[in-house]
Amino acid sequence: MKAIVVPRRGGPEVLELREAPDPVPNAAKGEVLVNIEAAGVNFADMMQTQGMYPHGPQPPYIPGLEFAGHIHATKDRVMGFTATGGYAERVAVTKQSLLKIPEAWSAAEAAAFPVNYFTAYFGYWMAGLSDPAVNAKGNKKNRVLIHAVAGGVGTAAVEMGKALGLEIFGTSSSEEKLAKVKALGVHHGINYKANDYEKAIADLTQGEGVDAVFEMLGGEHTAKSTRCLADMGRIIIYGMATGQAPQFDFMTMFQKNISAHALWLTPLTAHRELMVQAWTSMSSYISQGFIRPVVGEQLPLARAADAHRLLLERKNYGKVVLTI
Ligand SMILES: NC(=O)c1ccc[n+]([C@@H]2O[C@H](COP(=O)([O-])OP(=O)(O)OC[C@H]3O[C@@H](n4cnc5c(N)ncnc54)[C@H](OP(=O)(O)O)[C@@H]3O)[C@@H](O)[C@H]2O)c1
Repeated sequence: MKAIVVPRRGGPEVLELREAPDPVPNAAKGEVLVNIEAAGVNFADMMQTQGMYPHGPQPPYIPGLEFAGHIHATKDRVMGFTATGGYAERVAVTKQSLLKIPEAWSAAEAAAFPVNYFTAYFGYWMAGLSDPAVNAKGNKKNRVLIHAVAGGVGTAAVEMGKALGLEIFGTSSSEEKLAKVKALGVHHGINYKANDYEKAIADLTQGEGVDAVFEMLGGEHTAKSTRCLADMGRIIIYGMATGQAPQFDFMTMFQKNISAHALWLTPLTAHRELMVQAWTSMSSYISQGFIRPVVGEQLPLARAADAHRLLLERKNYGKVVLTI
């Protein structure tokens, strides 16, 4: 089969399109062969290529954490997670881990779902904002600040935030991206190149702050984001796009009784009951029309390096998907 291979550590330039052996499903483990039609591109894929991802795979390996396609034997349309191997024509995975693709979705939309939407779901769950009835406090809604709001997880968090009835604040480097997410449901877009987001949040909320922050930047942004929170707010730390470890502002955390929650989807996927609960809730948002994955760019498998560059250079909107 054709596959993208990472033969050594480096930037997007190391990705190579090669012939690779077909994966052989292990029937004893309940594995099936899936013909992949589209693969989601994640920030984590680039970090793995660079060797900056904790416990990431050792070269040579086939990257790709999620895919959509059909089961080879039954032709059922499915999407799912994999530790490696998404950037390929075929992958062997356990049948139990696969999700049925909603009927109206294309393969590209389905490939944009697993990582982003489960991450957004667990973010709201950890933030204590996953009940729409609790979020509507009289005529004042609970508030969330989403960094990289126009990215993959960002757009997923916007759609889900809308389903949960939240007032949504989001940051981006680009006016063009902010205009797009406004149409998606963001109430207050903040261009962090032109404005200090901490000051913007204070102004927009009359000094009250937000109830939760989706924080994936790391470094000083963790402390700065904490200062955007209201009393008893929660900061969900789920990435380090700056490459720097989170810095904490403990005095603000004490003064406002703020809690920080780390979120990493990979270990959570092993908790079957939580995954089923998440999928059940999200299936309801899908059928109500709140969730339709946002695919910004689709590139052929051979252009995987360009797909990585889009994320690295902050040029992506929504999810970048490789078509196979
Ligand atoms: N913990 C987990 O389980 C989990 C799961 C999925 C993703 N993540 C993390 O969530 C973050 C977003 O992932 P994603 O795949 O959805 O990517 P993405 O948001 O689609 O793409 C990255 C975006 O981040 C913004 N950005 C801000 N600072 C940046 C920097 N220093 N370098 C590059 N981009 C920067 C850019 O948007 P603007 O120009 O609009 O600011 C860029 O377009 C990543 O940090 C990723 O590691 C974590």
